[in-house]
Parts: sequence; C-alpha cells; structure tokens
Amino acid sequence: MTAATPLVEIVSTGRYLPDRVVTNRDMESILETSDEWIFERTGIRERRLAPPGMTAAHMGAGAARIAMERAGVAPEDVDILIVSTATPDRWLPATACDIQALIGARKAVAFDISAACSGFIYALTLAEGHLSTGRGEIALVIATEKMSSIVDWEDRATCVLFGDGAGAAIVRKSSGERGILGTHHQSDGNLAELLYRPAGGAAIPMDEEVLRDRTHLVRMSGREVFKHAVRAMAGASKQALALSGWELEDVDLMFPHQANIRIIKGTARYVGLPMEKVFVNVDRYGNMSSATIPVAMDEAIEEGRLQPGMKLLLVAFGAGLTWGAMAVRW
Ligand code: COA
Repeated sequence: MTAATPLVEIVSTGRYLPDRVVTNRDMESILETSDEWIFERTGIRERRLAPPGMTAAHMGAGAARIAMERAGVAPEDVDILIVSTATPDRWLPATACDIQALIGARKAVAFDISAACSGFIYALTLAEGHLSTGRGEIALVIATEKMSSIVDWEDRATCVLFGDGAGAAIVRKSSGERGILGTHHQSDGNLAELLYRPAGGAAIPMDEEVLRDRTHLVRMSGREVFKHAVRAMAGASKQALALSGWELEDVDLMFPHQANIRIIKGTARYVGLPMEKVFVNVDRYGNMSSATIPVAMDEAIEEGRLQPGMKLLLVAFGAGLTWGAMAVRW
C-alpha cells in the first residue's frame, strides 16, 4: 500500500508516561537479575510503571489531550478515534470507546486495533484510509499500553523488558508535501506462538488452572523473536523506502520500535543507516509495545531533533508476528 504523494499528515503528537520510575537496580530487589545482565542484553536502564488505578485508557487520554491541544483541535472535532493497545482495560467494549468518553470526543467513531507493537503504524494507515476516502477530517491515533499488567512478574526473561506509557497523534489530510508516503505492512500468523498469551481468551477461558499456571500472561521465545525482528524490520524499511521513491541517503531520522538496543542496532546495520540517524530512548522506558514510536517522536520534537522537512522512517515489529515501516515527510 502506498501513495506517491502524501494523502495525510501527522500535525501534532503527545505523550503520557506514569511518574513511577523503576530502575534495573529496583528490579534486583524483586527478581534474581542484575543491572548488568539487563543493560548488556537490552540497553534498558529503567522503565515507567503505572500504579494500580491507572489504566491504558487514562494514559491514552492523557497523551490525546496534549496532541489535540497542540493541533488546536477540540475533542468534539475528532471524527475517527483509533486506539492501538495490547492491554485493553476490559474485553468489552474497546478501550477507544472508554477514551472517547474520557476526553469527550462525542462525534468520533471509536475502535481498537490489535497489532501489538506494530499497532501505531498500522493505526496510522487506517487513519489514512478513513480520511483519504472522505470519512472525516480529523483522526486521533493513540497507542497506549499497560504492559506491566500482562507480563509475568515471575519470568525474569520477559518482565524486565517492558514498560507502561502512551503516545498520540492528530492526523489530517495533507495540505502539501508533508505526510505519509510509502508504507509496507506484513504479518505471519504461523509464528504467533513465539510471543503470545496462551490462555485467558475465548479459546481457553480464565479458570483456576489458567491462573495457577500463569498462562494468561505473556510468553516469549526471546531468541527466535530477536532473529525475526531484525530481519523483518530491515526488510520492511527497504520496502517503504522503495515505495516512497527515496534513497537511503535521503533518510534524516529513523524511529524504530524500542524493544531492545541490539535489535535497533541490528536493524540499522542491515538497512545501512548510521546510529546518528536513529532515535533511541529504550534505555529510559523499555518496550512500551505500540506506544514506543509516538513517544519517541514526541520527545524528538521537544528536543528539537525532529525538524520540519525531515524525511523519517518509522519501523515496528511485534506479536502476531506483525511488522511494518512507513516513510514520512515531516
Ligand atoms: N537476569 C539474569 N539472567 C537472566 C534474566 C534476567 N532478567 N533473564 C534470563 N536470564 C538467564 C536465563 O535464565 C539463561 O540462563 P541459563 O543459561 O542458566 O539458562 C541466560 O540468562 C540466557 O538466557 P537467554 O534467554 O538465552 O538470553 P538471551 O541472550 O537470548 O537474552 C533476551 C534474552 C530476552 C534479552 C533476548 O533474547 C532478546 O532481547 N529477545 C528479543 C525480545 C524482544 O525484544 N521482544 C519483543 C519484540 S517486540
């Protein structure tokens, strides 16, 4: 799926991160682990964890309010509200509907998408489709994740990797050169069980056995996921570049999904981009699933690193398996 000229553009971003910082050293007091082990293998130093009463909807609404204010958009102006989350507040209804109620986006059509860590760029593509086919003027895309509620805190190989947070973007029809250009999305359901929650859904409903075996929580084959992530993100990046008509040298800044610094470096190397052109904040937040890219973009804007006219490459990978990349002119 691609467009030679941009149909839609991201006009603003926002982020919401819980205040509570949990360092690797803090982890040492609850698990048999060490700062050295975690940092060497992942590049993570600390992550944010949401307190019990704070949900994906609360964090998403926080990020959305900032993005709306920066774009000069009132909640009642939003036509389409798409939420990417792997940690919905409830199984029914969609977290998007809860966020709609929290922020007062009365006229919006609100729904969730499930594409795990790739969800933000998948959701941008849905917004692009809605807006470019005349189904509204303003889309609010939110990625919000309370990963701490679905990881197994007894599994040291996974729980140290994840964190909580939310990012949001206001998307409108493009008025010029700015916007989304080449996009490549892909998935492979044959690899679903490399990263999944085995039970607790409709196939194996929650019961005492599930709770006892902790099979409602995230299970991951770390090494396998690692291999696929680098290959898939590098391949998708090249596809998005080709579809946008850009050369590799044109790319000013890459925003990779922030899962692990070794995956990020491997992807950059396979794509052929120097690390100076790669935005990294995984050290401070860990893997916030689909929220990592909008949070990173929001920080880059605030730091002055993301400047008008820049050519960006967004690239993500996650459970499904799902992956994708998007070339964006800022
Ligand atoms: N602290 C200390 N030791 C730990 C540990 C922790 N938090 N977690 C696991 N270990 C131990 C293991 O028990 C194992 O010990 P053993 O050799 O005595 O059995 C050893 O470290 C190596 O475990 P292994 O799982 O082989 O490590 P690894 O080098 O593959 O690194 C990951 C594990 C998870 C960091 C790595 O596989 C990875 O980054 N995978 C990608 C995960 C990811 O990003 N997923 C999300 C994608 S969206």
